[in-house]
Amino acid sequence: MALPELEQFFTQIQTAFNAQSLQRLVLSKYQGDDAELERITVRSIKIKDELLLSFLYEYRTNHITKNLTLANAIRFLEHSLGTDFKNAHMLSDEWEIQLSYSKKGKILVNKHRNKNAPATQAKQTETTEPDAIPKEKLLAHNKEKHRFVEQSRPYLRELGITEANGQIIPTMSRKWKQINKFIEVLSKAIENTGIAKRNEVHIADFGSGKAYLTFAVHDYLSAQLGVNTRVTGVELRQGLVDLCNQTASKLCLTGIQFEQGDVKHFAAKNINVMIALHACDTATDYAIHMGIRTGADIIMCSPCCHKQIRPQMKSPALLAPVLHHGIHLGQEAEMVTDGLRALLLEANGYDTQVFEFISLEHTSKNKMILAQKRKSEQDNREVLAQIAAIKTFYGIEQHCLETLLSESRNPAN
Ligand SMILES: C[S@@+](CC[C@H](N)C(=O)[O-])C[C@H]1O[C@@H](n2cnc3c(N)ncnc32)[C@H](O)[C@@H]1O
Repeated sequence: MALPELEQFFTQIQTAFNAQSLQRLVLSKYQGDDAELERITVRSIKIKDELLLSFLYEYRTNHITKNLTLANAIRFLEHSLGTDFKNAHMLSDEWEIQLSYSKKGKILVNKHRNKNAPATQAKQTETTEPDAIPKEKLLAHNKEKHRFVEQSRPYLRELGITEANGQIIPTMSRKWKQINKFIEVLSKAIENTGIAKRNEVHIADFGSGKAYLTFAVHDYLSAQLGVNTRVTGVELRQGLVDLCNQTASKLCLTGIQFEQGDVKHFAAKNINVMIALHACDTATDYAIHMGIRTGADIIMCSPCCHKQIRPQMKSPALLAPVLHHGIHLGQEAEMVTDGLRALLLEANGYDTQVFEFISLEHTSKNKMILAQKRKSEQDNREVLAQIAAIKTFYGIEQHCLETLLSESRNPAN
């Protein structure tokens, strides 16, 4: 017979599973016999209309999935919690529960409402929830949660971000911050679009370079969210492609592969998430265009080297004393180029945000364009008129993304 704290924990899992509101269960602090096993991530999965629990065993170098019925899953938890695993973290649409064992074997439970639960539920907590935790504690807890990537992930070691003991290598701390911020932004977009509920998610990363973010996105979706994930990195330089494929095979990751190619000529199909981070100049336009054409749910890019628009721009004479400083002209060209990209995304069915991706302290390439596909059609005439007016104002003849979109609508031209 399980202890009352465990009984309650299992009941919460069963309730969430039956209500199809279980987001994930993570079993960690493994102290069993298998030296390679790090943790298990569990999520609900539907196979041929049967709702099961998918257990993703995360080993140091590879992952194995086992699908269990609810009854078998609870039996497994009864057997392994407190012996093999000293920590269990459950997140459902309503609850977040942390169950852990102290050194003396005492069970500690920290339970509160999921902070992303609908507003009505959150309000209810304030008045009726008996074990609501104090605000300071909640804030501290939320702060902890904001670390989106765990330092112990094997790919970080392989890519030279962490030491063998899991510590961040000091010279890689900027990259580490960038990876975390990137996953934080992506995780919200994944939540908004609901793509983690799909049977498989396909991600394309254009201009993948050394692939820090490519491995991070693969790891986040497959290991952390338990989603069947396929990631394709596209990169001009063959040397980097070979290196990244070697890293993937060393880590036994079959869902990630790198191809040599130019984003300008790459034909992609059925992409759910299109990423292009720091792809040079109009490579960003080609990547966005590909994302739109294949109907990607999420398009994420951090543009760099804005060369196309600057020579075309004619600004009002009044601004000449301001714009004769080259840096201002560059900033203006960048703003107009990316502003038009965002409007073109809006006109093509995407809710779009432009924001600081990571502060200048960490990298000078700090702008993010994040576009999420709208669920319903919207009249785009006003946005198209805005685009035309801005182009006329600045005397812009051609914007690469607009040209590509127009060519794909009228292939004969
Ligand atoms: C600045 S790196 C960024 C790498 C990675 N996305 C990141 O953010 O860490 C840009 C990469 O894009 C690649 N690249 C540039 N133009 C490209 C194109 N047209 N097609 C494919 N890759 C391209 C470069 O070779 C380079 O490795």
